[in-house]
Amino acid sequence: MRSQSLRTRRSLLDLNDLSGPELEYIFERTAAFEKKLPKRDMLSGIAVLNLFFEHSTRTITSFTLAEKRLGADVISLSPRDTSLAKGETIEDSAITLAAMGVNVIVVRHSEPGFPDRLALAFDGHVINAGDGPRAHPTQALLDIYTLREEFGSLKDRNIAIVGDIVHSRVAHSNIEGLKGLGAHITLVGPPRFLPDSFAGEGVRIERDLDKALPESDAIILLRIQRERFSDGPQSISDEEYVRDYRLDGQRLAKLKEQTIVLHPGPYNRGMELADDVLIYAGWRYAKQVRHGVYVRMALLDFLVNGNRRSR
Ligand code: CP
Repeated sequence: MRSQSLRTRRSLLDLNDLSGPELEYIFERTAAFEKKLPKRDMLSGIAVLNLFFEHSTRTITSFTLAEKRLGADVISLSPRDTSLAKGETIEDSAITLAAMGVNVIVVRHSEPGFPDRLALAFDGHVINAGDGPRAHPTQALLDIYTLREEFGSLKDRNIAIVGDIVHSRVAHSNIEGLKGLGAHITLVGPPRFLPDSFAGEGVRIERDLDKALPESDAIILLRIQRERFSDGPQSISDEEYVRDYRLDGQRLAKLKEQTIVLHPGPYNRGMELADDVLIYAGWRYAKQVRHGVYVRMALLDFLVNGNRRSR
């Protein structure tokens, strides 16, 4: 049963939409679902639409599994096959979808703030499944859940996030979430991918990956997001990037024994990681994607049933 002190939430647009107690509640439910799947009736009568304007393997599949495991009516639309192609605005689509009984929209789009626009027009719950480089709150939820399972409290843990920070919605959401839980964050990357402006309270910048490795409890690797290079050319060659920032066997040898390595996926072998990482004992990628299903079940239950119970 939910604590009475938890507020009901309509949508999840960014991670800081969730209070500390709400985060704890979602993680408790995630653990419960991981231990034992509930009866497939928790979202009985609830229609969930997955609307992905950008490519996805992990997020759309895990949301779909989560929705089906909770008994929702699941619809997945490919945006290019919708009437948006005929000039209908997203706001008018939202009104239409709500009128026919869609209760939840899970949306991914390249435009920062697109889910917020949708949420303003839609009479239901909107979940941001990634909006351009801005935010990917459910990825941060599953990353933080994975880190907590490993370490318990994240207070004073040293977490390094390595690579193309500026284009990474995952990095942006994780920085917010991890800072709030008291972790020390070290961002590692070249200036093109990591402007000095990212430094702040609880967040420092390190240009030299080899210096960051020995002190890190966890390392989150990122893909170079070439699809978001509209802000300028790469300006560091692939060869230089691999030389300075790829995690490989030699660099793994510099880690403490218990250090774990995460990656939101998709990963590009040979660029940000060498195959050595995939057989490293602390590689937690499979756990992350597994947790993604349970975290999304917990979030859907929180948003929909929290509100249903409070009516
Ligand atoms: N981590 C992530 O968002 O993966 P997809 O792009 O495959 O959904």
